[in-house]
Amino acid sequence: MNSKGRFVVLEGIDGAGTTTHVARLAERLRASRVPVRATREPSDGPVGTLVRQVLTGRVVVPGGRAPGWSTMALLFAADRMDHVGSEIDPFIAEGGVVVSDRYDASSLAYQSVSSGAEAKEAVEWIRSLNRYVRRPDLTIVLDVSPETAAERRRHRGEPVQLYEQNEIQRALAAFYKDLNKHMPKDRIVVVDAAGPVEVVHGRIWDAYERG
Ligand SMILES: Nc1ncnc2c1ncn2[C@@H]1O[C@H](COP(=O)(O)OP(=O)(O)O)[C@@H](O)[C@H]1O
Ligand SMILES: [Mg+2]
Repeated sequence: MNSKGRFVVLEGIDGAGTTTHVARLAERLRASRVPVRATREPSDGPVGTLVRQVLTGRVVVPGGRAPGWSTMALLFAADRMDHVGSEIDPFIAEGGVVVSDRYDASSLAYQSVSSGAEAKEAVEWIRSLNRYVRRPDLTIVLDVSPETAAERRRHRGEPVQLYEQNEIQRALAAFYKDLNKHMPKDRIVVVDAAGPVEVVHGRIWDAYERG
């Protein structure tokens, strides 16, 4: 591989289209003969697999509830360390482009929003938990209304996951619009993600090419 390594992250609320557009962007890059790896968080590593089991209700604490927001923040941070070390860093070191479906912005958004009254403190703590992981070169936030996202989730027809409640999704949408306030040193581009897949892909491609 001889192109320059690059790390790009797609973020947004559930149903914004991150999974669809990570696949679409990777496909476009591959067609342009760019060495690309599409990946996701929670990752497919051991901790990520555990986190997915929490999200789908297969792992609970005694009493039958999901673990609290701070346990989730630690699990996501541990998964991220493993994900970066095993999948992201080695590929970028070879000059590849890694495109990830979610990264630490999701931790900041989801765990701080679900911490309720402690939100401000939660953001600081989660930021420090993730202090040593690689920064993305570009984070693209897919911005859709919570109503549009809910409609897409309904059409997708998958079982409802831990954070997929309207109130949480509304708070997440607001958080993502202001993401640059929480990550002032990162390059963050908010893209209008309403409309047909190919139209939104065009906007994402423009953001990618601008760098
Ligand atoms: N413009 C669009 N971008 C992405 N997905 C869209 C769009 N319009 C409709 N959809 C549909 O919405 C759903 C989004 O699902 P997904 O990509 O898994 O979102 P997320 O990973 O953000 O939850 C898919 O079923 C997709 O076909
Ligand atoms: Mg998804």
